[in-house]
Amino acid sequence: MTSEASLDQQVDTAARTVYSSSYTIALVGAGISVESGVPPFRGPGGLWTKHGEPPMDGYQRFLADPRAWWADVLSRQGEHSEFKKALEEAKPNLAHLAMADLEKMGFLKHTITQNIDNLHQEAGSVAITEIHGNRLKLRCIECNARWRLGELPTDEVPPRCPHCKGIVKTDTVMFGEPIPLDALESCQRESRLCDCMLLVGTSAVVYPAAEFPVIAYRQGAKLIEINPMETPLSGVSAVVLRAPAGEVMPKLVERLKQLAAPGV
Ligand code: APR
Repeated sequence: MTSEASLDQQVDTAARTVYSSSYTIALVGAGISVESGVPPFRGPGGLWTKHGEPPMDGYQRFLADPRAWWADVLSRQGEHSEFKKALEEAKPNLAHLAMADLEKMGFLKHTITQNIDNLHQEAGSVAITEIHGNRLKLRCIECNARWRLGELPTDEVPPRCPHCKGIVKTDTVMFGEPIPLDALESCQRESRLCDCMLLVGTSAVVYPAAEFPVIAYRQGAKLIEINPMETPLSGVSAVVLRAPAGEVMPKLVERLKQLAAPGV
């Protein structure tokens, strides 16, 4: 782990990089929610590390029999897997709150999150693209219309979209499911617009999300990595903050407040 002094120096460099950038965005992964009690997928304590990766054809099995899929989901509503329980009990941590502050201060223009946990919204962030969906929403697989749970009746299964009669499923993107086009286009647009990208708590190995830092980097954007562990992007990052997000992000906000203060 990085010494306190050198971490503070890195935080200062990161803050100056964000301060001198005109369009900073963030790509966020499971690591940001670890300090909210939600396990990551890979690495120490990762769900896939412990239980192995799930089958990659979840979506194909859904399409094969959406009625059976829904009947199964509704029948298991009372069940609480380790992950589901952690998601239901999780609260935003200091890193989520700091990102909402950076957005309110005008330094963070957009957040691309791979997380389905809704913790950014609960922390007050607004400019968000959820590339893997949101656990509290439903989505039409034809027109991408979305509803909060409870807004669309599920007594008829599979529920049908009132706009296009398409089949409705949970908004979270299943293995084997294409990323909804509106979300993908938003991520690509923001990645092309940015001149600085924060990489917060992602192993950067899952595509298409791992492509966005490459799009940004290739057009000259500075990458700032916030992660206790090395990733494939560490080598191309302008600044690396090798510490938990909950420790680093509040320091980044404080340093930017100082830089933005008049007469500094
Ligand atoms: N602060 C910052 N980063 C952390 C912290 C922390 N407190 N704790 C762990 N990390 C880092 C780990 O070092 C790792 O690099 O977070 C990363 C988590 O990586 P993954 O578990 O692979 O999560 P992610 O990158 O979001 O995975 C992408 O894979 O399985 C799919 O759909 C799933 O959205 C997920 C996608």
